[in-house]
Amino acid sequence: MFKKLAVSMVAAFALATAAFAAGEAKNVPNVDFSFDGPFGSFDQNQLQRGLQIYTEICAACHGLQYVPIRTLGDESGPGLPSDQVRAYAEFYEVFDPAIDDFRPAIPNDHFPGSNLENAPDLSLMAKARAGFHGPYGLGINQLFNGMGGAEYITALLNGYTGEEKEEAGAVLYENTYFPGGWIAMAPPLYGDDTEFADGAATDLQSLSEDVSAFLMWTAEPKLMARKQAGFVGVIFLTILSVLLYLTNKRLWAPVKARYKKK
Ligand code: HEC
Repeated sequence: MFKKLAVSMVAAFALATAAFAAGEAKNVPNVDFSFDGPFGSFDQNQLQRGLQIYTEICAACHGLQYVPIRTLGDESGPGLPSDQVRAYAEFYEVFDPAIDDFRPAIPNDHFPGSNLENAPDLSLMAKARAGFHGPYGLGINQLFNGMGGAEYITALLNGYTGEEKEEAGAVLYENTYFPGGWIAMAPPLYGDDTEFADGAATDLQSLSEDVSAFLMWTAEPKLMARKQAGFVGVIFLTILSVLLYLTNKRLWAPVKARYKKK
């Protein structure tokens, strides 16, 4: 009975992975982010680098209106010390209806929204663009390689061909990973756009990965807690199954013994 079950499970997995592999031809390339997989977690240094790239480059147009600035101090996030969070907040101006004027932001404020009307807010973008690891199916691919939103952003930032065209007065840039192939965002990164205090690489791929990781964190700041809770749940259920199995054996033991005697 167990053997049969195991065989059919292996067969199902093999079929599912084969199906995924077949459908992956023109997908966004996978990136092995530290937060992928059932035990993945954010890399704090990478989040700090991503925050720097976001602040220096992306924030010129984009916003993060759902992200409270104080969460930059979270241990499971970029983990900035509180004086740095405060100093960072002052970098932004927010409109305060109470004084009917702009004032420097404090950690309890959220990041400002987008500066540019047609630039979408990036708070949840990494989740909104999930699903680039093929069809959900059994979810095995998503379980081990992540949901794909961060990979999509990395590919997008790397996907410019250099072609431009003008359409209805707006310049569009060819990008192989943007649905439709033409995006209104000029290439924001070229490589070596910034310098890191920790001397990390600043080539285009590394910068794209860093900022994508940061955007994954803004979209799912509790990712690590969620995975941990899931893991505890699985351990609990495993122990429970073993106990139930043993209980079952014990309960039926007298009946089995009776039949054996006959
Ligand atoms: C000069 C302004 C500008 C800058 C700087 C900029 N963006 Fe954009 N971004 C845009 C605009 C405009 C769009 C909307 C494009 C469209 O819908 O065609 C956009 C769209 C996006 C999208 C959504 C793509 C989609 O699938 O809809 C992502 C992700 C993104 N930007 C990430 C970034 C990142 C990361 C940075 C910083 C490295 C950045 N942007 C810097 C203007 C900008």
